[in-house]
Order: sequence, then structure tokens, then C-alpha cells
Amino acid sequence: MFQPLIILALAVSASALNNGLMKTPPMGWLAWERYRCDIDCDNDPKNCISEKLFMDMADRLSEDGWRELGYTYINIDDCWSSKDRDKDGRLQADPKRFPSGIKKLADYMHVRGLKLGIYGDMGTYTCGGYPGTPLDKITLDAQTFAEWEVDMFKYDGCYSNDTEQAQGYPLMSKALNATGRPIGYSCSWPAYQGGLPPKVDYDLLGDICNLWRNYDDIQDSWDSVLAIVDWFFKNQDILIPAAGPGKWNDPDMLIIGNFGLSMDQSRSQMALWAIMAAPLFMSNDLRTLNSGARAILQNKMIISINQDPLGIQGKRILQDKSHIEVFWRPLSNNASALVFFSRRTDMPYRFKTSLATLNYTVGSYKVTDVYTYETTTVKDSTEFVVSVNPTGVVMWYVSAPAKVNSRLFFRGSHIRTFDHEEVPNNIPSLL
Ligand code: GLA
Repeated sequence: MFQPLIILALAVSASALNNGLMKTPPMGWLAWERYRCDIDCDNDPKNCISEKLFMDMADRLSEDGWRELGYTYINIDDCWSSKDRDKDGRLQADPKRFPSGIKKLADYMHVRGLKLGIYGDMGTYTCGGYPGTPLDKITLDAQTFAEWEVDMFKYDGCYSNDTEQAQGYPLMSKALNATGRPIGYSCSWPAYQGGLPPKVDYDLLGDICNLWRNYDDIQDSWDSVLAIVDWFFKNQDILIPAAGPGKWNDPDMLIIGNFGLSMDQSRSQMALWAIMAAPLFMSNDLRTLNSGARAILQNKMIISINQDPLGIQGKRILQDKSHIEVFWRPLSNNASALVFFSRRTDMPYRFKTSLATLNYTVGSYKVTDVYTYETTTVKDSTEFVVSVNPTGVVMWYVSAPAKVNSRLFFRGSHIRTFDHEEVPNNIPSLL
């Protein structure tokens, strides 16, 4: 009588990705946006896709304070492999650009307390034209990555059709699980299906992948960041329930430190990626990063907001006619994060509001500006003004409401003071 149920339960658990990884959004560095498919190591040895590039970046992560902040993954993207599989049908790294091989590169990461990610594609070719991992190669390639002691795998979708993707993405999840090695699994599947239901099943994705690309590739421009922000917040009601510990929407890499963003725009990308509980993969040159970009990427308060253990993705709560938008994310300890973002292109705009207007419950809140570290106490009813630069943000960490009321009670001859906690939870009123 009970047997079919047990078998069903086993079948379900076997299909789920239970690698226990990425309980908070993964952080690290990913080659693609900045280095693309530069394979010209003869003429561009410092920037070509080679083991040297990944070792250089690993050195920077481990020596310049990144690792301690949580940036631990070094991820290879496209164009790493040889154009042909080896005699046993296995993927192999390009021998000229990766003379030591991927296993040695993984060792290089591990001795530094870092992790190595690698890239493949579920079609016949990768997007860059390298050998893909179609259905009949999934088991073999998962085993190869595990033997190389790789820690994360991004499975792209070029040159595959809907049917192959519907089979391949869950199959790869099982194959990675079956290796016994915990390997974080990034699925590009939804990005190839328009990112929305009914074509995309976010419940299934949460069961089989740790993160997934929902939308277009990021490019080194503010337009590109804005297009991504627009799409993610327009569809927030679909995307928010999909995310949580171990399963994340991925709006793509951080391009801070490259050429396309001003300092204000860089602060905006970092702030909005933290609100979105997005994976934080930088794609930049850590060897030459300027101090401004470094300060933004290494901002401890924003990182801790991004990494909040509740893992609740935040939302846009206001689009004001002034072209100021407000974003909010609930955090653990009854705290929250607020971002005031300006879509204006004229001058710093003095936006006036109150926490009550932003749906906060009655109370007195300690507020910290995460970029200036200035702290103030703001009562829910107090009107305040934030000055938001064009295309920039003001971002606040808002602590739990403090005890505000002291009431005097007379009891016999004693005077006793009772502190009344404010309703401790400011979350439900915003949901
Ligand atoms: C696709 C992906 C990118 C990158 C390239 C590599 O466009 O979305 O993130 O991996 O392929 O060719």
C-alpha cells in the first residue's frame, strides 16, 4: 500500500537538485562580459581566455580582500575548450591556452580558498562555436567536470531547441547530482524561453538549478543595465516567488569597473542587484580596477544586504511622477533595505517622502546610508528629503523599529515604566 508513495518520493527527491549550495546568492568573477571570446594570446596575452587570466584574477580575489567579502567563484565562460573532443569523446581544454589543464586550474583555486566554475552549452555548439554538450554527452561531461573538481557549471542554450532544453536541463541536474560532487548549477534555459510563464516553469527551475539567467546578456552600457532593471521589476510579481535560498534569478554580471558606467550608475547597479538578491559576478579587470569601483564592489553593508539569509528578493514599491523610483527588500532581524533611484537626467533631485508613505508601520527607525555610512533616526511619520543624483541612487539600511512609547502606570505608590515594542514586523504591510 505504501510502496508506490515511497517510490514516488524517491523519484521526486532524485530529480531535485539537493546539493545544499548557494543558500545566499553566489559571488565571484566571471570572464564573459569583459573578455568575451578573445583567444588571441599571441597578441593580447594579458586579456585572452587562458589559464593565466583566471590565475591572475584568483590572485587578485585572494590578495585584495575580495575572498573575505564572499567573492569566491572564478568562472570560466565560453571559448575555453579545444574545438574537438578527445579520442574518448571527452571535452578538453585548449592545449595552447590552458597548458596545465582544468584540473590544475581547479587546484589553483582550491588552495586559495576559491572555487572554479566552467561553461558548457546544451546544443551542438556553444554560442561561440565550441563543442556543445547535447543530450547524449550530458553524463560524460558532468563526470568530466566532477573529475576536474569543478565547483560550478553554467549551462548555456545556443543551438538547441525547446524539446532538447526541456530534457537537457533536468538531465544535467541529475547528472551533476549523480557525480557526488557539489557543483553549483546555473541554467540559461529561461533566457531562451522568454523568461516568463507559461513557457518557463519557475517551480521546476527552483528544483533543478541553483540560479538561472532570465533575460538578455548584459553589455558594457547604462542602456543595457536599465533594460535589465526594467524587465526584472516589470515582472517582479512572477520572479520574486521563484527566488530563495539555493535558487536565484540572475540578471547577469556586474560591469562596475569597466567603461560604460559612471560612478553614480555603478552605485545604482550594485544597489539594485542587492535589492534583487542577485548573484554578484563581477566581469572586470581586477588587476587595474580603480579605487572608486573597488569601494562600491567591496561595500560591506550592500554585500550583507545582498547576502541576507532570508533570501527574499526585493521589489519596486513606487514609481513617482518625478521619475524617482523606490525599491524595498525585507531583511532578517526585521530590518529592510530601501533604494531611491533617479531616472532623471537633469540634476540631483530632492525627493520628499516619509517611511509611513512607503508602508512602514508606526515606529522610530535607525537608518544608515550605505554609501556614506551616515546614520539618522527617522520616525515613520517624519517627512524627509533624499537628494538623488541623475541615474544614481540613495540606498538605506533600515533597522527594526525601536521601542518608542514609554507609558507611565501608577501601581500603589510605585511608578513603573513599561516599554511597548512596536509591531515588530514591517513586512506584511508591504507584501
Ligand atoms: C550567451 C550567454 C552569455 C555568454 C555567451 C558566450 O550569449 O548568455 O552569458 O555565456 O553566450 O558565448
